[in-house]
Amino acid sequence: MKPLRPQIAQLQSSKIRDVANAGMGRDDVLAFWFGESDQVTPEVVRQAAIESMQKGETFYTHNLGLPELRQAIAHYTGTLHPHQASLTHDRISVTSGGVSALMLAMQAILGAGDECLVVTPIWPNLIAQPKILGADVRTFSLQPVNGLWQLDVDALLRCITPHTRLLVLNSPNNPSGWTLTRDEQQAILQHCRRTGTWILADEVYERLYYGDAPCAPSFLDLAQPDDALMVAHSFSKSFLMTGWRLGWLVTPASLTDTVGKLIEFNTSCAPVFAQRAALAALAHTSQITPPLVDHLRTCRDTLVRLLNDIPGVQAAAAPAGMYVFFKLPGFDDGVELAKRLVSEAGLGLAPGEAFGDTSKGWLRWCFASKDLGRLEEGVERLRGWLKAPLSQP
Ligand SMILES: Cc1ncc(COP(=O)(O)O)c(C=O)c1O
Repeated sequence: MKPLRPQIAQLQSSKIRDVANAGMGRDDVLAFWFGESDQVTPEVVRQAAIESMQKGETFYTHNLGLPELRQAIAHYTGTLHPHQASLTHDRISVTSGGVSALMLAMQAILGAGDECLVVTPIWPNLIAQPKILGADVRTFSLQPVNGLWQLDVDALLRCITPHTRLLVLNSPNNPSGWTLTRDEQQAILQHCRRTGTWILADEVYERLYYGDAPCAPSFLDLAQPDDALMVAHSFSKSFLMTGWRLGWLVTPASLTDTVGKLIEFNTSCAPVFAQRAALAALAHTSQITPPLVDHLRTCRDTLVRLLNDIPGVQAAAAPAGMYVFFKLPGFDDGVELAKRLVSEAGLGLAPGEAFGDTSKGWLRWCFASKDLGRLEEGVERLRGWLKAPLSQP
């Protein structure tokens, strides 16, 4: 038997899964390890999918998605980012989840040996995906300052050279909530224009923003239509649609046909009933997303306050996202700590190691909980475990 490609043979399983698998099936574990809300998709969205199925919409669609959905996404983007008011559907590709949008973007730009620079800590898929393609993946780390992660933008720019084919950024960031400022985006965009580097901006958390605006700063607020920029989006987080597997990619119009071809060879198209549901989600955005964000802000503030009440624990409120990313003093191995928390405290958190080397020992807690009582119970379990004599590192 011929061996697997080395890049695939060396692929590591997600460390979030490693911890979660250790606790799966135990109904006494309070799990906050995955990045999703425990609220079901709004009724109006589910109903649209049911109607689509009942009408018999069970066939393939256009590779790039239903034309009306691509138009609705273009309109939504233009409303959220007035700089893109004239954006049209020919820059939009509908994909099977944000994760597929990211993979398609990378497939379009990266081949074996191509240099790809990824800003970490970051959601593990964004490191694994370019590795699967055989790219030469390099990382640049944010640095923690008083519990929040920050970017040294000049140092980052020094790492982006004409050899850098693709820069991958995720802002607002999973796991840290770090969010690029407009000035930082401007500096990065200008620099990448000079080096000819493509930017892949993962902005799936843009609406889960707790600043004074309906969304986080986006590269789309600055870019020209033909800039070498691809922005990945998802219905998962802002519309409570993780299980539907629907996202989209904004690219220069000149790339859209290529993305369409790649979609054909990856998934052919997103399921039509999910696309109908997405149309309903966009039509009801104002009833879905702002109340969700208000609730998430309350969740974030509650969790941060409760964690900071535990002696010795410091947790900071990030400006965006659905996570508190924090460190317990004295514990330097996050995987071991997270496994112990599962088995000894019945508390499921994700280890910082999953997101890169520089966040070793950190823990990610997803606070997207419908019931604030779950968060309170989780913190109580942590407090009790820390007090127990056997909990020492
Ligand atoms: C940073 C980031 N990007 C993309 C995704 C993909 O989302 P989905 O594939 O559910 O649309 C996630 C999911 O957790 C994420 O955290």
